[in-house]
Amino acid sequence: MKILVAGGAGYIGSHVIVELYKKGHKAVCVDNLYNSKIKAVKNIEKLIGEKLPFYKIDCCDKKKLETAFKKEKFDAVMMFQGYKAVGESVTKPVAYYRNNIDSALTIIELMDKYNVHNVMFSSSATVYGKNAKSPITEKDKALILNDITNPYGETKAMIEKILTDKAHADKRFNVVLLRYFNPVGAHDSGLLGEDPNGLPNNLMPYVAKVATGKLPYLKVYGNDYKTKDGTGVRDYIHVVDLALGHVAALKCYKKKKENVHIYNLGTGKGTSVLELVKAYEKASGKKVKYKIVARRAGDVDRLYCKPAKANKELGWYAKRDLYNMCLTSYNFENK
Ligand code: WQD
Repeated sequence: MKILVAGGAGYIGSHVIVELYKKGHKAVCVDNLYNSKIKAVKNIEKLIGEKLPFYKIDCCDKKKLETAFKKEKFDAVMMFQGYKAVGESVTKPVAYYRNNIDSALTIIELMDKYNVHNVMFSSSATVYGKNAKSPITEKDKALILNDITNPYGETKAMIEKILTDKAHADKRFNVVLLRYFNPVGAHDSGLLGEDPNGLPNNLMPYVAKVATGKLPYLKVYGNDYKTKDGTGVRDYIHVVDLALGHVAALKCYKKKKENVHIYNLGTGKGTSVLELVKAYEKASGKKVKYKIVARRAGDVDRLYCKPAKANKELGWYAKRDLYNMCLTSYNFENK
């Protein structure tokens, strides 16, 4: 298949493109490089061994994005584009709604115009809201939006709704919603990884900076949660396992019965902040200094999934362990 990968120069999108090519698919990368670098496109080309068609376009710019639809014949679209910093979304909600929703609607309208009916959306475990009980299944979706603790998560839930309503209105439209838990780690080559502009919001990229001496210590946001060691528990999944989940999910486009497919992509295992720190020290051989500080607003005690549906229906399993997640993250950060 030939796939438009919106946000394809980003952390998840770049790893997905590499796995698509390994399975014989082709991709066209569209990215405005707001939160990614052209270096990622060059490194993808090194890994796929050929030129990657790349358009530096903002997916909210319908006129420009249409040039890609006009020129290329897409069999499917993968939507990774969008702002993704939870904390920032609380302080800049309108920018998040404008960018994330507008880009999604723009893509869907162009898909309609150019008869592209297969879409895969990068959703998030955040759509389960703060009251979901782990292990979480696909049926546990938060029923009301304000159960979700931040505008970033609400944009994910809204785009899921837009795609679902579109699929109900148009049976040719085929939607796959992939709800990521916590993507971490980097490509074995050390050429691709999580490379956020500015201070990392998420745990592992922050730990990576402490382990490589770029930041003095990690702030552990609270150790009074109802968990094994009091620190937050999450379901960390290696980004390459996550990418392989997208390739496995392409088979949904052959299923004619239903046209909305929803899967959790996680390991089903919960890991605490302190357990991750210890694993990182073991993998990197470096000390990771930390200080316990106050809880971060919006954090929940634990969040991990039941990946049984993806395992069974997609034949997909997360295979890489926490040690490998830390080792590949460290190798990438060290490069
Ligand atoms: C993990 C744990 C923190 C940083 C969010 C989004 C999700 C996805 C991933 C975008 C928590 C603790 C963190 C730090 C810490 N979004 N922590 N010190 O919040 O589970 O998920 O990011 O890709 O949709 O909801 O991820 O990595 O920020 O936090 O103690 O400096 O680490 O309290 O327990 P989170 P996270």
